[in-house]
Amino acid sequence: MRSVYALTQLAAAIGAVASQPADSWVFGNSLFYLGPPSGNSHITKATYSIVPPSVPSGAKSNGDDEPWVSVWVGASSTAGDQDANLYQPIFNWCPDQESQGCPATAQEWCVAASTYTPFAVVNSMVVQTVTMNDKIISKESDALDAPLQYLYSSNECYTGAGSCGSVDGWKITNLTVTLSGADTSFDSVMSLDSVTDAEFKSTDGGITWHTDRITVNTIDFDSSDDTQVQ
Ligand SMILES: *[C@@H]1O[C@H](CO)[C@@H](O)[C@H](O)[C@H]1NC(C)=O
Repeated sequence: MRSVYALTQLAAAIGAVASQPADSWVFGNSLFYLGPPSGNSHITKATYSIVPPSVPSGAKSNGDDEPWVSVWVGASSTAGDQDANLYQPIFNWCPDQESQGCPATAQEWCVAASTYTPFAVVNSMVVQTVTMNDKIISKESDALDAPLQYLYSSNECYTGAGSCGSVDGWKITNLTVTLSGADTSFDSVMSLDSVTDAEFKSTDGGITWHTDRITVNTIDFDSSDDTQVQ
């Protein structure tokens, strides 16, 4: 511990310290958070496209404990309980993608450049399908642990022994959420945290909800202004 402390002091003295401590989980503060629907209603389907940003810039590796960055939209039965499943189609990036088992270059996200990611609940299974240019590139079915109540986005960084740099803004487009029963005020549980939303509304009395676009801001993972450390 003492040597890490001494190194941090030295780095601070030469002005080179990243503002996040090593091995931190850091979340960008630009996200949407939707749920829960009222009564016994739950989310039975969500479809959207993700227009991903360029890969992060300014990330720094420091040995084998690589930083990595993810952007995702996920669905869960709880408001973030670690014990509940999070069904989460995801974009991952790491300076050395192969070190994370992904055969991509440092200029590419793992999963896609342009992805359309629907998931649906069928017979108590959650079916996630990732398609790119109308071709299925990833598919997964998992048992549903409890009815889905929440849908939210995240920008996530694991600093490793380095730092994540920053990731440009990105867009979630054509988001459609289908409920098991009508909730005419589902828009009241759509929280927008430093994102802009085209307008989340229902045209069928509260079963199907849609917005054309949610725009996520640029996140500097190395800045405490843009992030929360968990
Ligand atoms: C939006 O998503 C729906 C499926 O939910 C699809 O049928 C439609 O073509 C999409 N629209 C655009 C503009 O991509």
